Amino acid sequence: MTVKQIQLLFSKAEDALKRSVAPYSGFRVGAAVISRGGRIYTGSNIENPSLMLSMCAERTALYKGLTGVNDPFVAIAIVSGAGDYCFPCGACRQLLYEFAPGIDVYLKSKKGIKKFSIEEFLPYPFRAPVP
Ligand code: THU
Repeated sequence: MTVKQIQLLFSKAEDALKRSVAPYSGFRVGAAVISRGGRIYTGSNIENPSLMLSMCAERTALYKGLTGVNDPFVAIAIVSGAGDYCFPCGACRQLLYEFAPGIDVYLKSKKGIKKFSIEEFLPYPFRAPVP
C-alpha cells in the first residue's frame, strides 16, 4: 500500500463514519476495505434497539466487499468518532482472519496511524475442522 492509497482508504473510512447509526452507544465507527485490484468498500456501525442485532463497521465493509468483488482484500482502515484508535472487536478479527487472510489493519487516531497484521490481532485463530 502506498501512502496515497492509505490516505484514500482513510478518507473513505471517514466518509463512512458520517453514515454511522449509533444512537445507543454514541460510539461511531467507520471502516473501508480495499481489494488487491484497488476496489474500495466502506462500512459504518449500525445499531438497533434489539442491541444484539447491531453490526460493527468492519464487518459491514467486509461483507459489502465480499459480495462486491471476487478479489482478496489487502487492507482495512478503521476510524472512530472518539478520535482514538478503535481496535477491532474479537468477532471482527475472526471474520477478517477468515475472509481476508493476510489483510493489514490500519488504525487512525489524533496521534497518527498504526499498522497491524491480522495475525498480530488474532495469533491463535479458530480454524474450522475440515470434514
Ligand atoms: N464497534 C465497531 O463498529 N467496531 C469495533 O471494532 C468495535 C465496536 C461498534 C459496535 C457498537 O455499535 C459500538 O461500536 C459500541 O460498541
